[in-house]
Parts: sequence; structure tokens; C-alpha cells
Amino acid sequence: MKEKMIKQFKKLYDRTDGSVYFSPGRVNLIGEHIDYNGGFVFPCALSYGTYGIAAMRNDRKINVFSNPFSKEIYTFDLDHLVKDPKNTWADYIKGSIKAIIDKGYKIPYGIDLYIEGTLPVNAGLSSSSSLELLIIYMFDQLNDLHITRPDMAILGKDVENKFIGVNSGIMDQFIIANAKKDHAIILNTETLEYQQIPLYLDTYSLLIVNTNKQRGLADSKYNERFKECQDALAILKPKFGIINLCSLTDEQLKLSKDLLSKTVYKRVTHVQKEQKRTILSAKALKEGSIKEFANLMTSSHMSLKNDYEVTGVELDTLVDALLDSGATGARMTGAGFGGCVVAIVETQKFDEVCKKAKEIYTQKIGYEPSFYSVVPENGVSII
Ligand code: GLA
Repeated sequence: MKEKMIKQFKKLYDRTDGSVYFSPGRVNLIGEHIDYNGGFVFPCALSYGTYGIAAMRNDRKINVFSNPFSKEIYTFDLDHLVKDPKNTWADYIKGSIKAIIDKGYKIPYGIDLYIEGTLPVNAGLSSSSSLELLIIYMFDQLNDLHITRPDMAILGKDVENKFIGVNSGIMDQFIIANAKKDHAIILNTETLEYQQIPLYLDTYSLLIVNTNKQRGLADSKYNERFKECQDALAILKPKFGIINLCSLTDEQLKLSKDLLSKTVYKRVTHVQKEQKRTILSAKALKEGSIKEFANLMTSSHMSLKNDYEVTGVELDTLVDALLDSGATGARMTGAGFGGCVVAIVETQKFDEVCKKAKEIYTQKIGYEPSFYSVVPENGVSII
């Protein structure tokens, strides 16, 4: 891939002085819709992601060609970082540069840039955060800004919250910035303390399957869930003195039933129970209880389906198809409303499970799912 990037860069800009970077995508193993509620999440980085090659210019222009989005070089200015509805993919680049500048860092010169992604777009594997961290890391390296990796993640979150307009948490950016090969991270999203957990699955393997459903109104539905949780916290915080929804005790959850609407109570139930499942999952994995971990994943899906209501017919059909085909555990991953499922499968049954699940899903939904392997990768780096 590195050679291909260098070749494309030469073709586009007639330069050979670019450095090549890779920023991974991510899969969240468990702890879904938890990061904006202050609890623990458990993601790992993927070998699929975003490659970029860049070299400094001597003016303030940014030239970018993105495969597969561009037909020609797209140019904008460091002093005019505004959204462009005709090229929304470039908003993530502009937003990332703006987040760096808004924090007070100096970026004197623009760059020539070529980008190529290997992640399915809009599939819940964080192609946007992967691009954000690629740009933030690149500018950090090119300008010797010495931004720490946790701070890079905070900048990436700023892009989503302040520039793009999605109230997402910090999970995606944090894992992409801090991931370690063959490990997942258990992250406390309230304090940003984290621990690297070896992802040793013994006779089992992880599998990602994309429903290939395009996620229509995902951003607005996501913001709706965010608001429901904020509303719940506004009521429960003064009552119980909690700092976030994840710190509700079982007893307090029971008492909440009379204080919240039926819908909001269901959302809070998911959050409180998912938090427990996440902690138990990290423990199960540390102890080598893969089956226990897989069961927790399946319970997580049921909770996202019934209480948090962010799945939909494609994700539910795919999870059922995988379980009926012999997967040990399966759940949706990411924001939901389409996108991907992550599953644990006995390695010896792997091919058979994929084949059967594909048949069942395609027959019910009318189009095929896509399969991806999970190889936990390092965070964003120069390659
Ligand atoms: C998206 C967001 C994350 C997180 C997940 C759901 O991926 O970007 O911050 O909230 O959804 O767990």
C-alpha cells in the first residue's frame, strides 16, 4: 500500500517527498452507547482504515485528492475552513485542522495530500474518526506540535461535536489514537483512564459482518438518544447525586422507573446494564472465559434492540443468522441503525458459519452481507 500511495502522490503532485501515514478503523467489542454516558467501553483498532500521504507546501493551501470520493484535486485555504455541502467528506479534514488551530497550535503552511480508505464508509467502523485522527496526527508530525495521543482523541471528538454536529463520545477517536497491536482497550470515558487488554481468544476468532444497509438518519437518531440520556441525567442527578448514568446502582435504577417516561427509562436501563456487561466482559477475557464473553455480547445486542432501540431489521436478522449458523455470540457494533455486527466464532467452524449466515441473511433481506476479519492493530502512525 505504501508504494501505491507514493506512486499516486507523484502522479498527482509531481512530488516524491511525502510521508505515508495509516489510521485504523475500530470495532467496539462491547459497551455500546456508553461513551457519552461516562462509562466503560471496550474497543480495538482494525487493520482496515485510512492511508494518507502528505508533504508541506510553502503557501496556506490544502490540496487533497481522496480515493474514492474525488474526481479531481480539491483545494481549500487554511484561513477559510468552512463546511462544503457538495464535498462533505472534506468537512472531516477541515474540521480536524480547525480543531488544532482553535486549540492555539500554529499551522503556518498548507499541504499536498492524497488519501485512500480501505474501510466500508458509513458502516459503523469509524471511517470518519479514522480520517480525523489521520489528519490530526499528520499535522502534529509535520509541524512538531507534540500533541499527546489522548489530546489528539479529544481534538477528534471536537471535530464531531463542534464542526460536524454529532454529539458523539470519545471512544472512536481514543482507540484510534491509542490502540496497541493484539490488544483491546478498556476505557473509562469519564476519566480517560485506560488499560490495554490482550485480545487472546484461544480456539475462537472475531468476525465483523456488514449488513450493507446504508445508514440513513443515523446522525439525527444518535443525537436523539444523546438527548434522552441528558434529559434522564437532569432528573436523576439531583435525586441520587450521581455523576453520570453509568453510576446508577440497581436500587436507584428501580426507583427511576417512577421518575422517567417509559421510553427514557428503557434507555437508562440499557445504559446501566450495558456498563455492567462491559466490566464483566473485560474480566471474562482476562480469565480466558471466551464463552462467557460471547454470551455477554449477545445480551448486549438484545438490550440495544429492545431497550435502546438502535438496531433494525437488517442488524437483528444478521445477528440471528450468525447465532443460528453456530456463532457463539454476536451483537451490533457502533452507533447502530444499520452498519456492522461483531461476532465470536469457534475458529474450526468459521467458514461454515460465514457461509450459512450469508445464505440466511441474503434470503431474508434480499442482498448479501460482507465479511471482514478482525486483526487488532496499532493506533495511528507513520508507516
Ligand atoms: C458512534 C460514536 C461513538 C459511540 C458509538 C456507540 O460510533 O461515534 O462515540 O457513541 O457510536 O457506542
